[in-house]
Amino acid sequence: MKTYVVQGPTPLKGDVPISGAKNATLKLMAAALMVPGEVVLERVPRISDVSLMCEVLERLGVEVAFEGSTLRIDATNEPKNEATYELVSKIRASIQVLGPLLARLGSARVSMPGGDAIGSRPIDLHLRGLERMGAEFSSEHGYVEGVAARLTGARVLLEFPSVGATETLLMAGTTAEGTTTIDNAAREPEIQDLAQFLNEAGARVLGAGTNTITIEGVAKLHPARHVVLPDRIEAGTYAIGAAATGGDVTLRDIRPGDMELVLQKLEDSGAEVTRETDSVRIRATGRPAPMDLVTLPYPGFPTDLQPPMMVLLAQATGPSILTENVFEARFIFVDELNRMGAQVRVEGHHAVIKGVERLTGAPVRAPDIRAGAALMLGGLSAHGETRIHDEGHIERGYEDFVAKLEGLGAVVSVTEG
Ligand code: UD1
Repeated sequence: MKTYVVQGPTPLKGDVPISGAKNATLKLMAAALMVPGEVVLERVPRISDVSLMCEVLERLGVEVAFEGSTLRIDATNEPKNEATYELVSKIRASIQVLGPLLARLGSARVSMPGGDAIGSRPIDLHLRGLERMGAEFSSEHGYVEGVAARLTGARVLLEFPSVGATETLLMAGTTAEGTTTIDNAAREPEIQDLAQFLNEAGARVLGAGTNTITIEGVAKLHPARHVVLPDRIEAGTYAIGAAATGGDVTLRDIRPGDMELVLQKLEDSGAEVTRETDSVRIRATGRPAPMDLVTLPYPGFPTDLQPPMMVLLAQATGPSILTENVFEARFIFVDELNRMGAQVRVEGHHAVIKGVERLTGAPVRAPDIRAGAALMLGGLSAHGETRIHDEGHIERGYEDFVAKLEGLGAVVSVTEG
């Protein structure tokens, strides 16, 4: 347990370098299981989710070396085919090893991920898609066990553009026999990054970033080196932080196009946004304007930035309605935010936000990664001291969070226990 003690209000001011994307890195690491040789990933963020995923790969018998921000993964030897409950329960994204293991080994046994704080997270779309590619699944004792002598290309229409299911099928399709088409595919930039890596490793993937992805199966993948794309969610967190604190922040080393809607919403709130090729400056003064906002799969507004956005709108000059369409339980942190003087009422998947003149510091608890970061932004905009009790969520997703905030002028201290 860590406690972040934040003094506010502090306008965030200065430059902040953005790390490689967590959500791309974890899937690239899973994809490395399919490569009989060394994969080198650069610009890998030093966060605990990446360390846990390293552990998952090591337990599967794969060699992993992490130096600076370069991660080497060597799966020359065939990995084991089982990811245990102990591992999957620590990091849900480890379910992504299912597709690669099945593709490489013809069988895989992976613990079913349980729910987490942001809701139940089923994997039915992953399994149904793999079944269409010839896999057979049974589930017993909390494990899902799949077999497929060799996966075969198929046409898969996803009921919902799930990020994880698109990635599972994308990876599985690369070495399947024949052509796989994923319709209603998720279009997130991290999926494009994964497809780019797979192509660098010899795969033939077309259409990643659109809602139809076509994968022509190849016999095997070969070693590759890849630079992870910038983390648009980390960047968005600091951008919203600038707007929420009346600050002036320049995000460095990013792809502004990947976060266009977030930038537009910040402009709607009254912030001034200056876009350059690989950086963006966000300047804000005074209270933000209210707005209605809906989370949707990319290129819609990202659900991961909904909690920070709620902190911004909690201080708006009028009422806002925020609708959560991706993870229904994402509003669990509202009670914590209300302890800081916000006036937010949840009705189903809508949050009605009244907009108050000022938040006030309070002791709060971080229920997940993004809500933890949002509460930190709340603490920076609130008057007085905020203590955020966190069981390691923030460190799962944000590299050097405290140091980067301090670089922007925040006054934060951390105590253990
Ligand atoms: C990924 C991201 C997460 C982000 C989310 C949506 C990672 C590690 N995590 O999560 O940060 O918030 O995308 O952008 O990349 N669903 C099903 N059945 C399935 C799969 C998903 O019903 O088989 C549902 C989920 O319960 C959820 C919705 O689809 O309601 C979206 O999930 P999905 O897009 O798969 O998100 P993740 O890949 O889990």
